[in-house]
Amino acid sequence: MSVLKEKKILLGITAGIAAYKTASLVRLFIKLGAEVKVVMTPASKDFITPLTLSTLSKNPVHSSFYTKEDENELWNNHVELGLWADYMLIAPATANTLSKMANGVCDNLLLATYLSAKCPVYFAPAMDLDMHAHPSTTESLEKLQSFGNLLIPATSGELASGLMGEGRMAAPEDIVSFIEKDVLDTLPLKGKKILITAGPTYEAIDPVRFIGNHSSGKMGFAIANVAASLGAQVSLISGPTNQQAKHASIHRVDVTSAQEMHTAVHLCFKEMDIAILSAAVADYKPKNIATQKIKKAAGSLDIELMPTKDILASLGKVKKHQFLVGFALETNNEIENAKAKLKRKNLDLIVLNSLKDKGAGFATDTNKITIIDQDLNKINFELKSKVLVAEDIIKEIILRVNK
Ligand code: CTP
Repeated sequence: MSVLKEKKILLGITAGIAAYKTASLVRLFIKLGAEVKVVMTPASKDFITPLTLSTLSKNPVHSSFYTKEDENELWNNHVELGLWADYMLIAPATANTLSKMANGVCDNLLLATYLSAKCPVYFAPAMDLDMHAHPSTTESLEKLQSFGNLLIPATSGELASGLMGEGRMAAPEDIVSFIEKDVLDTLPLKGKKILITAGPTYEAIDPVRFIGNHSSGKMGFAIANVAASLGAQVSLISGPTNQQAKHASIHRVDVTSAQEMHTAVHLCFKEMDIAILSAAVADYKPKNIATQKIKKAAGSLDIELMPTKDILASLGKVKKHQFLVGFALETNNEIENAKAKLKRKNLDLIVLNSLKDKGAGFATDTNKITIIDQDLNKINFELKSKVLVAEDIIKEIILRVNK
């Protein structure tokens, strides 16, 4: 899956012959699952039509500050467009636009949008070789990069003038790969290996029955998806659940019992950087598993239970460089119990759910958490969807791991 999936890309097109290639560029972004909006300089419409671009991007294309609709003039809000984007790309970027961008000139919608954008801005110059080699262009390129904008260099080859040399806009495929690679390189969890446990465990009583719990796995899967989308390589060890992992860099291992989860976790823990144990592991299992289905009989049935291995505590004992995160589901004396668990299991962070909070805990789509760190700092969060809670948890981990 591309890092650009579900990302909002604002494409700014200026008046160079390479503008005809932006049709392919839009298609490539859309194919990767990105959302695309286009702003054009008025003169660029001589090189490619707004209709082509609005059809391919499935969004209206703007080139002036106002759009006439029936009798009304609608303001095309450059601030909104600039803030909408996760990434802005100006391609082709002519010498004229580059110079204006470098000097804060703002005489069309594209330039006003550029000045309003807070996201990373990429630009792909395209012009004839002498224009490209001119000191004023070099100065614009340097100045724009010093502002933090990201240059996708022009390439060498045959130019529209018939001359050979440097000034061709990078090919659409190369522009997309450049941005994907750059985005990947800057992800905060790039290169990090993260182990996540999720879901319940089932402890067999006989071949058809088990002791289990109501954990849905939603919280652990949400954490795995967020971590992967921020560049991590995730090993997701999950008990029985119908949740689906959404990311190619999630390696899922399915287990059933606490013992199987314990084995799978210890197999990979050594090479991990971070471990987040969100599974609702059974604390007890039947001491003996009947080999045949237990027949109904008069009177009560006693099943002797014995403790399972505490996976989190066992990692706390062997951890070296790893950042270890546990969960605590409490019903009373929550903060004190969570703090004690953090110390007892040698954790770096504990995520507390209180069953007293409405909408928190098992089988819901929402959760309300408090995070406690090793210094016993306490961070309270509002009730949120589990996806947003996962983002909060990962943010707090990144703050401490990347310190
Ligand atoms: N956990 C684990 N292995 C177990 C039991 C729990 O790895 N056998 C982990 C859970 O994944 C969670 C944390 O330990 O991250 C806390 O689990 P919880 O059941 O709240 O705590 P316990 O230590 O079991 O204590 P208690 O049930 O007494 O509150």
